[in-house]
Amino acid sequence: MAKLLIRGGTPLKGTVNISGAKNSALPIIVAACLADGESVLENIPQGIDVYTISMILKDLGAQIWFDESKRLHVIPDGLDRYQASYDLVRRMRASFYVAGLLLARLGRAEVPLPGGCALGSRPVDYHLKGFQALGATVSIEHGYVKAEASELVGTKIYINRSSVGTTMNLMLAASRAKGTTLLENAAKEPEVVDLAIYLNSMGARIRGAGTDIIRVDGVDSLKGTEYSIISDRIEAGTFMVACGITGGELLLANVVPEHLRSTIMKCEEAGLEIEEGISEIKVRANQRPLAVDVETAPYPGFATDMQQPFVAMMAVADGTSVIRETIFDRFRYVDELRRMGADIKVERDTAIIRGVPELTGAPVEATDLRAGAALVLAALTAKGETEISGVELIDRGYEHLDKKLRQLGADIERISDDCEESLMEHLTPPLMERL
Ligand code: EPU
Repeated sequence: MAKLLIRGGTPLKGTVNISGAKNSALPIIVAACLADGESVLENIPQGIDVYTISMILKDLGAQIWFDESKRLHVIPDGLDRYQASYDLVRRMRASFYVAGLLLARLGRAEVPLPGGCALGSRPVDYHLKGFQALGATVSIEHGYVKAEASELVGTKIYINRSSVGTTMNLMLAASRAKGTTLLENAAKEPEVVDLAIYLNSMGARIRGAGTDIIRVDGVDSLKGTEYSIISDRIEAGTFMVACGITGGELLLANVVPEHLRSTIMKCEEAGLEIEEGISEIKVRANQRPLAVDVETAPYPGFATDMQQPFVAMMAVADGTSVIRETIFDRFRYVDELRRMGADIKVERDTAIIRGVPELTGAPVEATDLRAGAALVLAALTAKGETEISGVELIDRGYEHLDKKLRQLGADIERISDDCEESLMEHLTPPLMERL
């Protein structure tokens, strides 16, 4: 099991290149399997979740590999199995996108029901209601969701609550349904828009992505194509906060500033100086962060995935901040921040954080991806050494976080195997045949 050893106190300085968005990459790799022929995907981050979704699709019959230029090739022509592997799907909730894919492609899907996770109970009831509305029969048997439809037929679907996963899964299923589907109260996240643009480039007819009504006119077939996915707004936000917490000066390259609007606003309120370019953002922190109140909300609100990194910064802010989490049950990690000296009280969905002048290094454990990022940020400013275990969870969604921080001057060391890289070897052509 990998660990990170971090000795805090160095202001981060330099340029960091932001990777492609994990939460775009996952549905887009699945969408590539709806097509006939090869897709070549660029800017795909090499994290464990990308590996997992690729392995699930390979197990169903697709061919997937990274070439030397880190472009991901997806050839779905041999994808003819409809039962997804329990062992692989249980690792990641986003695997449930294969349900929409299999229904649209094969008319039949058997996908393990994703369980709860570190973010609390995470049902898929909206996804299932949507599949049923499109004409599928859906049942849950022996831990598997079984869905079947001789033909999916477009209809009007109101999604109970803005849900990124439901919106994407129904876009996948509806893109090859008969007739028109209207998704009402759809999620407006940039990753939803990215998926729509990619599907349209394959020949789908999707309008309105980015608004709360998405219209999908089903088509008979889709063609593989080349596509470069958007950059990761959460990774960019994490580096912005890393700059704030260490009193550094960073240039974030390869970003889409408008996707970061709510994070930029809150960081400016916290005293960071931010200058936006077309695809880059300069961040400078000349003072101790100021306390800021935040409430998470669906896009364009403040992202729940930025909550934990922001709490880490508020832990050393000047003053008391109140952070309300409205999307998930996502405050368990604050116990670990408390081990580093943070003064945080949690009452149901709200954390009240009294900023302390200094955190101190301690052994801590990442409990999920973003919680892990929060601990890394806290460690970067803490006095002494912090040992973070559970690094595999950080590797799920941040591409080479420790290497990037080291290049910016952080004193950070990974001990034990580079699990992220050794897994990725399974997605290079020479090893493909052996799997
Ligand atoms: N919900 C239901 N029933 C459903 C679906 C969702 O009750 O069938 C609820 C959820 O429990 C939650 C709310 O609706 O309270 C919104 O959940 P959503 O479906 O939007 O979340 P998701 O699609 O499962 C994605 C990201 C998360 C991100 C959320 C919110 C991916 C792979 N995951 O999850 O990312 O936090 O949207 O923006 O895109 C992360 O990257 O660390 C991460 C957790």
